[in-house]
Amino acid sequence: MAEQNDIISRNIEHYHEAKRKCLTGCAVEIGCLKHMYSDGTSVELCGVQLSIEKKERVVISGKNGSGKSTLIHHMIGLLVPVEGDIKVMGVSTKSKRFKEVRNEIGIVFQDAEQQLIAPTVFDDIAFTPLNLGWGKEKTVRRVNRVMEDLGITHLKDRVPHYLSGGEKKKVALAGALAASPKLLLLDEIFSNIDEQSKDRIIQYLIKLNKEEGITIVLTTHQPEISKIFATREIRL
Ligand SMILES: Nc1ncnc2c1ncn2[C@@H]1O[C@H](COP(=O)(O)OP(=O)(O)OP(=O)(O)O)[C@@H](O)[C@H]1O
Ligand SMILES: [Mg+2]
Repeated sequence: MAEQNDIISRNIEHYHEAKRKCLTGCAVEIGCLKHMYSDGTSVELCGVQLSIEKKERVVISGKNGSGKSTLIHHMIGLLVPVEGDIKVMGVSTKSKRFKEVRNEIGIVFQDAEQQLIAPTVFDDIAFTPLNLGWGKEKTVRRVNRVMEDLGITHLKDRVPHYLSGGEKKKVALAGALAASPKLLLLDEIFSNIDEQSKDRIIQYLIKLNKEEGITIVLTTHQPEISKIFATREIRL
């Protein structure tokens, strides 16, 4: 309990600190958030009153069931709080305008398989940019680039459903990055990624963050990722 209080007060300190720095706009602003699942399970994330600044690389850590995925799902408006509010790029996820903000978010779900829907890897990665009205030529250029950067060009004609767990994660990441998002949400992206690929992906994400200013929020159980990747860690 003492430790929990300590985490809460540290997070509140971060909140005030971030709030001060966030005058030109935050990527994510979270109030005291309460979620109620349909079976009555309630998740309260009141210890995480903080703002995520644009261009931050934030790691969210915490025990199984602590609410990391729930929080990520709120950040993309897939879940809506029963109490409290969450704003992304200054817009409440409850607002009608959030649909536009949603187009600027890339996400990889903890169960990445559920988001792979196209008949081939290439089509899957191209889905979002095409859906957003990018021309064919620009989309093809971008998809080829992202596949090359992530080392998955050899998978481009494969059926996503038959890929290995790690390959699926990489394809989902390519899909999340394809339309050049401003905010990238990665839920346990490294859970079945080999060490070599993990290093490559971390360096790539840091490069994207520095060169393109993408805000990245990543959940993980692996402390070493936080050390090499995060500019800040939030512990739930
Ligand atoms: N669809 C759901 N219906 C009911 N309860 C749910 C649902 N999804 C999650 N929960 C519950 O909400 C709480 C938070 O779950 P969540 O998946 O956010 O945790 P997590 O921190 O991501 O855990 P993990 O480290 O295992 O991924 C847990 O108690 C979980 O059982
Ligand atoms: Mg989770």
